[in-house]
Amino acid sequence: MPKPRVFVSRQIFDEAVSLLQTEADVEVWEDELPPPRDTLLEKVNGVDGLLCLLTDKVDGELMDAAGPQLKVISQIAVGFDNIDVPEATRRGIPVGNTPEVLTQTTADATWALMMAAARKIVDGSAAAHDGRWRTWHPLHYLGQDVYGATLGVLGLGRIGLEVAKRASGFDMKVLYSDIFRNEAAEKEHGLRYVDQDTLLRESDFVSIHTVLNDETYHLIGEKALAKMKSNAVLVNASRGPVVDPKALYEALKSGQIWAAALDVTEPEPIPLDDPLLTLDNCVIVPHIASATYATRGEMSRLSAQNVLNGLKGDRLVTCVNPEVYD
Ligand code: DGY
Repeated sequence: MPKPRVFVSRQIFDEAVSLLQTEADVEVWEDELPPPRDTLLEKVNGVDGLLCLLTDKVDGELMDAAGPQLKVISQIAVGFDNIDVPEATRRGIPVGNTPEVLTQTTADATWALMMAAARKIVDGSAAAHDGRWRTWHPLHYLGQDVYGATLGVLGLGRIGLEVAKRASGFDMKVLYSDIFRNEAAEKEHGLRYVDQDTLLRESDFVSIHTVLNDETYHLIGEKALAKMKSNAVLVNASRGPVVDPKALYEALKSGQIWAAALDVTEPEPIPLDDPLLTLDNCVIVPHIASATYATRGEMSRLSAQNVLNGLKGDRLVTCVNPEVYD
C-alpha cells in the first residue's frame, strides 16, 4: 500500500520532517518565500495531509485543488485566520494549530518589544553604531518608566495572561479587557477587569493579544488611539490588521501616543515605503515573537504530530474544529 502524501509548505525542523516520513511520503517546499498561489494549488493536488503556515491561504479553492482524500490541515502557528475553518469543518477535515508551546516565548518577546520601545533601545543601539553617540547627555534618549506603570492587556488568552503575570516583577498595575471575564486570574494575579475604553484611557502600556476576525479588524484605529495617553506605548504581537497602520502613523507622528512596538504589520512584510518606517518611535520586527530554537522546534514537532494523527484518523493533539469529531 502506498504511503499517504503530505505537502509541507516551508522548511521546518528536520526532526519534524523525519517524524512525518515514518508514515508518509513528504514533499517540503524548500524556498525561503511561500509557494506562489498557483504552485501551492498544484502541490496540494492529491495530498492526504497539508502542513501549512500563516502565509498560505487555505480556503475552499485549495481544498478542492487537494481533492476529497485530504484528511488533515495542520498549521504551524497558534493563529489560523488564514484558514477557512468553517469550510474545512463542512468537509469533515480537522484543522490543527500549535497553542501552548509558544505561549511563554511570545510573552517574553512582547516584553522585549515593550521595553525596547519604552527605553529607545533600537534607536539607541543604532546611534551607538552610526556615530550619533557623542557624549552622555542628561536630555538624550529619554524614555518611559516601565516600573510602577499601568499595563493594559487587550485579550486575556493564554499569551495575554502570561504577559500580565510578568508585570508583577515591575510592580505594575494590570488592567485587562476581553469578551470573557477571568475572575480566577484576577484574584490570583491582581488583575482588574475593565471595558476597552477604560483600558485605553488608563494604561501607560497597551498590549494587544486578540485574535483577528471581523470584530477585531482595525480595532485600534483613530478613535481608539485618541483615547490613549500621550505617554502611552502600544505593543502588537497578535495580528497586524488589528491595528490600522495609517491611524497609528498619525498618532505616533502627532504625539497622540508616545511610541509603538510591532511584531506584526498590515501587510506583511511591511512595504519599504510605509511611513511607519520613517518614525524613530516605532519599533518594528518581522513577526518573530515565537522565534526561539526551542519553541520553533516544538511547533514543528506538534504540527507534524497533528498531521500524523489526522492521517490515521486519530484525534489531533490540538484541534481548532473539534466538532468534526461529533
Ligand atoms: C502564531 O503562532 O500565530 C504566531 O503569529 C507565529 O508564531
